[in-house]
Amino acid sequence: MSDIWIVDFGSQYTQLITRKARELGYSSVIVTFEGACEKLNSGEKPMGFILSGGPQSVFEDDSDYSVIFNTKLPVLGICYGMQIISQYFGGVVERGEQGEYGHAEVHAESGFSFPNMPSNFNVWMSHFDHVSAAPDKFKVILKSNNNLISGIRDKDQKIMALQFHPEVNHTEFGNEMLEYFFKDVAGLKCNWSNEAMLEGCIKEVEEVKGSKVLCAFSGGVDSLVAATIAHKVIGDDLYCFFVDNGLLRPQDYHHIELLKKETPLNIEVIDAKELFYSKLANLSDPEDKRKAIGKTFIEVFETKVHEFEASHGFKFDHLLQGTLYPDVIESISPHKKGGKSVTIKSHHNVGGLPERMNLKLLEPLKFLFKDEVRKLGEAVSLEHDWVYRHPFPGPGIGIRVLGEIKPDYVRMVQESDQILFEELKKANVYEDCWQAFTVLLPVKTVGVKGDARAYEEVICIRIVNSTDGMTATWTNFSHEFLSKVSNRITNEVKGITRVVYDITSKPPGTIEWE
Ligand code: XMP
Repeated sequence: MSDIWIVDFGSQYTQLITRKARELGYSSVIVTFEGACEKLNSGEKPMGFILSGGPQSVFEDDSDYSVIFNTKLPVLGICYGMQIISQYFGGVVERGEQGEYGHAEVHAESGFSFPNMPSNFNVWMSHFDHVSAAPDKFKVILKSNNNLISGIRDKDQKIMALQFHPEVNHTEFGNEMLEYFFKDVAGLKCNWSNEAMLEGCIKEVEEVKGSKVLCAFSGGVDSLVAATIAHKVIGDDLYCFFVDNGLLRPQDYHHIELLKKETPLNIEVIDAKELFYSKLANLSDPEDKRKAIGKTFIEVFETKVHEFEASHGFKFDHLLQGTLYPDVIESISPHKKGGKSVTIKSHHNVGGLPERMNLKLLEPLKFLFKDEVRKLGEAVSLEHDWVYRHPFPGPGIGIRVLGEIKPDYVRMVQESDQILFEELKKANVYEDCWQAFTVLLPVKTVGVKGDARAYEEVICIRIVNSTDGMTATWTNFSHEFLSKVSNRITNEVKGITRVVYDITSKPPGTIEWE
């Protein structure tokens, strides 16, 4: 299957372009300019190109873009990409004195209109330079209300360029404009769907058929979908190992039991609670705790797997991981344009595991975004509730008990988290937030329980909305809901007299407290 290549010039919105293209039904991948050149040289061809925005100026850019334009394939330029197109085809780009960032109003030039759109609309600009004269044969299709050229098109060469960002939500009718490029300018046919995604993942797994595959299984959406697809292809050559680090919530234990009963997956549970607690004793710095949890995980996993291999008389060849596209993409820095090609980050919880155990990686979801993985999960008939679980960090409750971890503190988070979980489900608002959890704060406060004075711990409720975890806003659930959760926690969780609600967004806060 051929893709649209999104050539990344360092825009902060490059991932969004990919998502939008796929949402509209066109398969797309991110490449660097250097990566695109290498691929073209080796004979690969895309369906078309989208040149992303970027913070640099064409006046400092001496790259030769003929390698792209000589293909005669469709090209959409966005912001910096528009300036590259204009300069290449002989238009005039003027150096901007001041950057233009934020909302701007644009209008269609007479004789032109995008289908199903008004002629005036608001867009999101972010650039320094601008095009002051379009290249010959290009038609100016949009101008801003302060008369700057904002869109050009040459239908014969299947090229269109926009000075603003159609991919961001602040731009009105962004999808319509992208669709216009794909259909009317480029004449492309849709090729991205759940079936296409599944086909791609299955192909990836088929390449390892005949080998034994190991999966570090957490029961989260990513590892569950990856394992389910892998199992369809290699069946019982897939072995899922689930490490119980004692830092899980009641819902996680319940979920694993359910998956063991209701899926064909071969799931081995390794009980390592005591070992984790002993390794965490006296540690209170978040990074020290993360490192100890990660290191212990690898030790436990490695030991167990070697025992398993010895008793079963075979060796594993591959490690299946639910790595997603955002983990894979490392946008090139603006100052390294054309420099580095895409690198793959090691998984931050089990970093080093494949090298240490001499396993090759199998990452069938590595071209997908979280929402696509969820769609895929439903397409392979996984239960809706399993696929729409909130993300849960690898170190689990280890970073939700602030400071030193003690089994009794873990119990307080487990019980309070379960109450919050039950109430979210009861009120039917679980899927109205990205993550919702409780945190134990290391302070004691005075309260009254029954007729006696209490001097006990504080639980904080954290509920946020987000699309990818990179930024987040605190969720404004009703006071009635929060009050119900608070009452239940103070009544039912031994050792808690006070509940607070976190009203910090990210930035400046992070989602987790540690
Ligand atoms: P922060 O707290 O950085 O979290 O705003 C962003 C997202 O990442 C999750 N998170 C982690 N996930 N290992 C993980 O697997 C970790 O050490 C870790 N720390 C944070 C967090 O739950 C949120 O979804």
